[in-house]
Amino acid sequence: MTALTDPKLAQVLDREHDAARAQWAARAKAGAGSAPRQAPPDFRSSERMKTSYLAIRPDQGRFLYGQVLATGARRIVEFGSSFGISTLYLAAAAQETGGHVTGTEYHPEKAAKARGNLSEAGLSADILVGDARETLSGGEGEIDLLFLDGAKDLYLPVLRLLEPRLRKSAVVIADNIPTDPARHGDFMAAISEPASGYATCVLGMSKGGMSHSVRL
Ligand SMILES: C[S@@+](CC[C@H](N)C(=O)[O-])C[C@H]1O[C@@H](n2cnc3c(N)ncnc32)[C@H](O)[C@@H]1O
Repeated sequence: MTALTDPKLAQVLDREHDAARAQWAARAKAGAGSAPRQAPPDFRSSERMKTSYLAIRPDQGRFLYGQVLATGARRIVEFGSSFGISTLYLAAAAQETGGHVTGTEYHPEKAAKARGNLSEAGLSADILVGDARETLSGGEGEIDLLFLDGAKDLYLPVLRLLEPRLRKSAVVIADNIPTDPARHGDFMAAISEPASGYATCVLGMSKGGMSHSVRL
């Protein structure tokens, strides 16, 4: 048995993925999000950020899990934990590599539920509560794998904040990246240009794209 196939984790993941799918379907039915957005939602005040899962899908979770195992990542940082679905995959993999996950979530109620999910699955991770730009500043030690899934306009500032700690060949994975390069923004430009110091590609997943970068 691996950490990912542990029945305790499987039960929590099944339930949480089901709840996330149901919430997404209910929102879609109610027409939420059908109006074009003028600006990115403010992660502090947006009702959606406060209450919605906005979670990765199972294939993305397996990708994160596999990346931790394949690279032997032990020091793992996550920007944007929400109710902890992605954190569960990362923490399961970290259990196998002997590593540790530091998650971040602005909303305390979400962080509390994420901690409950981890504990129910028999896993552990630290979830820092508050704005990740503050909670992750002043952190020490190298980072092997960074997962970016918080406010999209903060991917680049958070990457720059943590960049001095990324070890050579560290992996940076970011969710919600358009697969169409014409729609890429500042973050992708910064980690895709030849002199960026990263080898980057975008992978199509069940829920849009994820970027995958290796620190050179
Ligand atoms: C897309 S959801 C994360 C989903 C989660 N990774 C998963 O797959 O289950 C984004 C989350 O990031 C949080 N967030 C956004 N900006 C943040 C910031 N600056 N600091 C801390 N949390 C933030 C939001 O509150 C929200 O819960």
